[in-house]
Amino acid sequence: MSNELRSLLARVEDKDPEIAKEIRRHIDALQSRRQFGLSFERHMPESVALTGRPISVGDKVRFLPPRGETKAESDATWLVTGISGPEGKRIASLIHPKTKEEAPRALEDLVFVADFRDPIYPGLKRSGEPVLRGGDKPFHTVINAENYHALEALLFTYQGKIDCIYIDPPYNTRDNDWKYNNNYVDPGDSYAHSKWLAFLERRLKMARRLLNPRDSVLIVTIDEKEYLRLGLLLEQTFPGARIQMVSIAISPSGAGREGAFRRSDEYAYFVKFGDAAPAALDLGPEWQGSKGTSTKKIRWNGLMRSGTDAGREDRDGMFYPFFVDAKTGAFHSIGEAIPPDVPRTKVEPPEGTVAIWPIRKDGSEGRWQVGAATASRLRTKGYLRIGKFKGTATAVSYLKAGEQRKAQNDVFGAVTVTEAGHIEVETGSESSARIPTTQWTLTAHSAADHGSSLLRKFIPGVAFPFPKSLYAVEDTLRFFVKDKPDALVLDFFAGSGTTAHAVMRLNKQDEGRRRSISVTNNEVNDQEDAFLAKGLRSGDDEWERAGICERVTKPRIKAAVTGLTPAGKAIAENYTFTDEFPMSDGFEENVEFFTLTYENPALVELDLAFERVAPLLWIRAGSEGRRIDQRNDTFGVADTYAVLFNVDASKPFLSAVEKAEGLRIAYLVTDDETQYQAVAGQLPEGVESVRLYETYLRTFQINTGRV
Ligand SMILES: C[S@@+](CC[C@H](N)C(=O)[O-])C[C@H]1O[C@@H](n2cnc3c(N)ncnc32)[C@H](O)[C@@H]1O
Repeated sequence: MSNELRSLLARVEDKDPEIAKEIRRHIDALQSRRQFGLSFERHMPESVALTGRPISVGDKVRFLPPRGETKAESDATWLVTGISGPEGKRIASLIHPKTKEEAPRALEDLVFVADFRDPIYPGLKRSGEPVLRGGDKPFHTVINAENYHALEALLFTYQGKIDCIYIDPPYNTRDNDWKYNNNYVDPGDSYAHSKWLAFLERRLKMARRLLNPRDSVLIVTIDEKEYLRLGLLLEQTFPGARIQMVSIAISPSGAGREGAFRRSDEYAYFVKFGDAAPAALDLGPEWQGSKGTSTKKIRWNGLMRSGTDAGREDRDGMFYPFFVDAKTGAFHSIGEAIPPDVPRTKVEPPEGTVAIWPIRKDGSEGRWQVGAATASRLRTKGYLRIGKFKGTATAVSYLKAGEQRKAQNDVFGAVTVTEAGHIEVETGSESSARIPTTQWTLTAHSAADHGSSLLRKFIPGVAFPFPKSLYAVEDTLRFFVKDKPDALVLDFFAGSGTTAHAVMRLNKQDEGRRRSISVTNNEVNDQEDAFLAKGLRSGDDEWERAGICERVTKPRIKAAVTGLTPAGKAIAENYTFTDEFPMSDGFEENVEFFTLTYENPALVELDLAFERVAPLLWIRAGSEGRRIDQRNDTFGVADTYAVLFNVDASKPFLSAVEKAEGLRIAYLVTDDETQYQAVAGQLPEGVESVRLYETYLRTFQINTGRV
């Protein structure tokens, strides 16, 4: 029984024990039914202690352990009823909401607590100098944050836009590896599996909203402890996605296991959405699979839908005719979709043409894969083909997004447009491009050699547990972003930053402009107890400097781009595999570093509130070019976006926006919907309008429990 149900039942029990008994009987009956699929206790949603969040009257707080101790006096949540005393020595008056006990406490001994659904106001603070070696290329971003909140904030910038998410979450096998409700989870805890599932499920649901539903992939690595549960969780969380598991040999000699085979591999789940599919690549002999058999042949897909939801009645707007010349079969035009209750015989084909409708082999009415407007766009680009003329049974086919990209990127060689209006490519030329099997046994993927050892070259003397092989991550990503030179790649368990590093290598190989977003927290893992005993607390400089993001992720990514260790020494070795060059060359890339902050809207000044959200505006507009960091009384115009701070200045703002080139977004600050619509309606075509609340932080309010 879930904690929520338990607490509701306890409330009913107080009022009416008989009804409570009856409810319990029904619950027991339900629980005894075996459910298909993964059923796990979702626990009470996590309440989180937000270190660094300024505290004011009305807030919920918890006691921090006294300095030098590892345990707080109590885990209870208290309410702040007053704050007094001079700066630096402030005292909060607290009341326990249930017992009504009162307790004064030094403000510095308290931490703000947000329960599920309590609004949280995140901000992004630049932390450290950006690395600028990429000219006008868009920036990679590294965010020091609890990923659940970072993902919610990223919904503002990237909803439906991410091409690839690669995550290597904690595998639930080690002590001090990951936290649930602010405490490290002991792998021996009898709830360890369900806590892990609940923790991951909430983040995966968010990932689902970030991924591009038309063509994207989620890659999750895992080992033997949780792979079965993870597989089911993925199936449940992403119904309709295509899931495949690959086994990757990461430890050629294997790791010993008591009474078991030596373990040499781990697994990667590929969850594919829309048109996503692994690309055939020019692979070396070390990859298993049939050799050199694929041809560079473009793949045309039937436009008529088959399988599920394929009937006329299953989707509005997908039943319309193509008109072709009645004698030659040449394309004439595309008709409009007709409503479900209109018989197709009511549609009169233009003179001299016949209509091709999506009619299935058994004579029943089917539907096309895309609407008439999309079909028309495909036709204009040469991506829609009318097949050999067979009267009303003539086939219509089209190119899916992946094939379109290949044609655009000259994967097939010369592309010409036929008289019939569709593209044609050189066919028959043999290529060694192929898709490998699901068993990857490559020396390049050894985690010890190309994960841990490689990391030491970039940040000597800094230990990090189990980084992935750089080349394993690079190879994994390549199958999905090879044909996407502008891909957005997110890793929200970024650890030592291997994914960002791999994206930079991929960019170097084909002059791509792919962007990585690396989110990872700043936990101190095994050092936590020692730090607490030393009198340190999370938030103290010494503690924060020792956290993973500050000590490992940022310095590693910086070293990769500059080719210099943190001590300024050129990295002596060469990259191997695929693309060999000196590590000291670095990469022509730009990187910006941020820390997610928790703001208190009651205390924060408007200017600071804008500063904290400014990076999110820049990121949403493409993370490139100049940024508007300061608020003013009128408006600001950067390279890819503009901000109207004061609607009274909308006239000069609109004329500045009209003149500026390359603007993608206009952020309009107003609480008044009518004013917003009036300005938005006058923006030039191609400039998206986005409304911001005047308090700024309200626009980015998270933890609303929508997921
Ligand atoms: C297994 S490691 C990833 C290693 C990475 N693939 C690499 O090659 O270095 C998982 C990382 O996620 C971080 N992490 C765990 N829980 C997190 C959370 N709730 N928010 C952000 N990061 C988290 C851990 O600190 C750890 O660094």
